[in-house]
Amino acid sequence: MTFLPAPHGGKLINAFDPIYDISEIEKELEIDAIALSDLELIGVGLFSPLTGFLGKSDYETVVSSMRLSDNTVWPIPVTLPVSFETAAGLRKGEKIKLAHKNQVYGVITVSEWYEPDLDKEAAEVYKTQDLAHPGVKRLYERGPVYVAGEVTLVKRPEKGIFGAVWFEPSKTRSIFEAKGWKTVVGFQTRNPIHRAHEYIQKAALETVDGLFVNPLIGETKADDIPADVRLKSYQVLLENYYPAEHVQLGVYPAAMRYAGPREAIFHAIARKNFGCTHFIVGRDHAGVGNYYGTYDAQYIFSEFTEEELGIKPLFFEHSFYCNKCEGMASAKTCPHGKSDRVILSGTKVRELLRAGELPPSTFSRKEVVEVLIEGVRETVAPGIR
Ligand code: ADX
Repeated sequence: MTFLPAPHGGKLINAFDPIYDISEIEKELEIDAIALSDLELIGVGLFSPLTGFLGKSDYETVVSSMRLSDNTVWPIPVTLPVSFETAAGLRKGEKIKLAHKNQVYGVITVSEWYEPDLDKEAAEVYKTQDLAHPGVKRLYERGPVYVAGEVTLVKRPEKGIFGAVWFEPSKTRSIFEAKGWKTVVGFQTRNPIHRAHEYIQKAALETVDGLFVNPLIGETKADDIPADVRLKSYQVLLENYYPAEHVQLGVYPAAMRYAGPREAIFHAIARKNFGCTHFIVGRDHAGVGNYYGTYDAQYIFSEFTEEELGIKPLFFEHSFYCNKCEGMASAKTCPHGKSDRVILSGTKVRELLRAGELPPSTFSRKEVVEVLIEGVRETVAPGIR
């Protein structure tokens, strides 16, 4: 008997078929890294109940009301954009190989294709049409026609150094069960884990059996810290400060959308598919710049019932080290003023690291900072990695 939640939509999709015969399929479509990641995550069931790239009616209801046309909650369109030229040659029902850098990873059976209203998609999903928003910029760059259809993943993308910490949802579920965890809280991050992250993770862990540290390693914006550097920082942090029997590290190979509130729901659903019962949402989850209010990604959860989401969000206030409290605290628990609180923006931290300066240990653990300084130095020296 399992205590873990059922996958979203009821069953874990498995569209991976390594012996699928592609020899008779002539047409091949080159897809970008984001579409490859989407293909993989549909294939292994992380995006359950999706079995392919969204058709027009699902796309429209997802954009307008955060639901698939059968009413299942789904907040962000997962689509396959192509050029007008490619679209002109499409035929309903045909199979097309999906390739990235000339390597075939999947097959799509084309059900339809359509021109999305990108202005509407930007305004509804990202809450802005500003091209300075990295998710919006990518949306307009990626192609004017969406091809829909069921997919089969025929080859798993190589994970390189992430291979040892990439577990598909069927695997994470068996890992959590083997550990005897009945409740598991998932933690999303696209950043190194600083003291504030650690604080909210451990506060959450106080009330559940296990913590699934689940950093996103798909496409991020250029000035985010690269995933390979972050991986080392997670490993050293977990080795030194986390109890192994209550913590599991595993990566989330999805692209970052920076869609704030809607992406918080998207992140929660993926973590439910991994087998998590709870999901951490802190301040400005999946946000960028000033496009979203600090707690908008928490408020959006009230638009859905607990049953239809099937994973319980755990909300945290803005957290920091307070010099007067002499410990980690949050806007909710600390009575002191701004000048007592150690708060550094991501931009400020990156500036410090690039200059080889250590952010204070009240902001980030020494072991983490050392790995980051080393990694950031390597990324600015071309040819080393
Ligand atoms: S995200 O884009 O992946 O959400 P980030 O890695 O900064 O960005 O955040 C990971 C999680 O920690 C999110 O749930 C976010 O809301 C939360 N978080 C980040 N910093 C803080 C903080 N200082 N206080 C409270 N929550 C935080």
